[in-house]
Amino acid sequence: MYTDKVMDHFTNPRNVGEIADANGVGEVGNAKCGDIMRIYLQVENDIIKDVKFKTFGCGAAIATSSMVTEMVKGKTLDEALKISNQAVADALGGLPPAKMHCSNLAADALHEAIKDYISKKGK
Ligand code: FES
Repeated sequence: MYTDKVMDHFTNPRNVGEIADANGVGEVGNAKCGDIMRIYLQVENDIIKDVKFKTFGCGAAIATSSMVTEMVKGKTLDEALKISNQAVADALGGLPPAKMHCSNLAADALHEAIKDYISKKGK
């Protein structure tokens, strides 16, 4: 039921971990299943230089977290803010309908981390 890309990112997730001196951190929980995702950003001159994640969740949540980190590295904050859960799911070759809500976590955690960075900057 999962695409090869989903299985690849689930079994071999990219950018797992924490950034000790992250200047933007976003955390979201999924009320439906209790899964939690946290994204750490290292932003310089409005460019995402580094990004890592920690996800306590299902396979689809881990795969979408991994994919979203690959999609935003090197992007500007404006570009990253435009990444939707649908875009993340599309990049993985699609998700089963029952698992689409899992991809919300990745996009939401990313957007929260960017908002955290912006509010810390006082912008
Ligand atoms: Fe909880 Fe997928 S079942 S995020």
